Amino acid sequence: MANSNTQFTTRLGVIATTVGSAVGLGNIWRFPYEAGMHGGGAFLLVDLFFIFIIGVPVLCAEFVIGRHTGANIRGAFRALAPGQRWGWMGYLSLISAIGILSFYSVVAGWTLEYLFASLFSYSSSFADASESALHSRFASFATSDVRPVLWTILFLIANYFVLVRGVTKGIEKVSNWLMPLLFILLLAFCINSLFMPGAAEGLRFLFYPDFSQITPSVILGAMGQAFFSLSLGLGCMVTYAAYFNSRVPLIKTAVTTAILDTLVAILAGMIIFPAVFTFARQPAAGPQLIFEVLPSIFASLPAGRLWSSLLFLLLFIASLTSTISMAEISIAFFQQECSMPRRRATLLTIAAAMFFGILCALSFGSLSSLKIFGLTIFNLFDYVTSNIILPIGALVISIFVGWKLPLPLLTSSIS
Ligand code: PHE
Repeated sequence: MANSNTQFTTRLGVIATTVGSAVGLGNIWRFPYEAGMHGGGAFLLVDLFFIFIIGVPVLCAEFVIGRHTGANIRGAFRALAPGQRWGWMGYLSLISAIGILSFYSVVAGWTLEYLFASLFSYSSSFADASESALHSRFASFATSDVRPVLWTILFLIANYFVLVRGVTKGIEKVSNWLMPLLFILLLAFCINSLFMPGAAEGLRFLFYPDFSQITPSVILGAMGQAFFSLSLGLGCMVTYAAYFNSRVPLIKTAVTTAILDTLVAILAGMIIFPAVFTFARQPAAGPQLIFEVLPSIFASLPAGRLWSSLLFLLLFIASLTSTISMAEISIAFFQQECSMPRRRATLLTIAAAMFFGILCALSFGSLSSLKIFGLTIFNLFDYVTSNIILPIGALVISIFVGWKLPLPLLTSSIS
């Protein structure tokens, strides 16, 4: 149960950590590539609908459950509906937390590779910013079997060290400082992109919705993106809200989180798409989109190496503040449901993510021909967790709050 040692200490700490969980690769890597593949403006429109009409209420629901019970998701459901069979939701969220942590760590590993290339071999890695050079740079890295795996492992080890320190000491401190810095840097890049020759075309692609493009797959993709980006549907925000004190205003926190999260995704789109059209790239390039477009932006800037290092550093930090929130779901579960000490719970979580993360990393290389339902392991993990498990989880949480929670409890929590 939450006590004073395990609560976020300040109001800024609460916002910075929930925004820290929400803002991450989902906004800066996943949003531009999903929007690029699904028609730009049409995707954004549906995404906004899911974020504000469905996401914010579900976020409030997760906050209410978490703060009221002070428990992990399984314990929370058990406490609120004793003797009823809601505990399976705890297992579902455990599986999806470890699933997301696994493939996410691979992409976070890519940002580390690009950070190190910026710092130590900028001129040889990014000097030739042509499409074919950047494409083959990414492909030769991602399809190799060694470096992506090593970066994934290293990234997960970094998570371990933040997580064993505990929630308030580790997570809150990191988030307070780095989230505002990331925001400022993105703003600077966005202004730079607005002066590019392809700016008008890029902005039109991002903001002008072509309604004929709204197909079932765009709707499913945008729904998955909205839940993924707000860290919803797997009890992540239940777990974090367990560390809120009773004075944290839940609706305000939910709305602020959704606005900041959306702003970062839109900023990322406003950075990437003008560049996509300026440098004649394909918006539908897929997961490698930002890794093939950002270096062209850096190459066109004075002090490109500095900008590039800074952006990849902050991307790495943004990933870290998201992955620690995913890992915290599983750690809180093992600690409270299996009475495990925190260190062992952390070790177990990181080890499981490492195992599956290595498989995801290899699915670009020697395991690329292994397809399940026509998808590589990486794509399968991404698709099943984001587009299937998170929406189901969000639905279950909504039904639970709507039907099982006594109304007075709900209104007193929310006001
Ligand atoms: N919201 C995070 C992001 O956008 C990802 C995430 C998903 C974090 C689920 C926690 C739980 O990067």
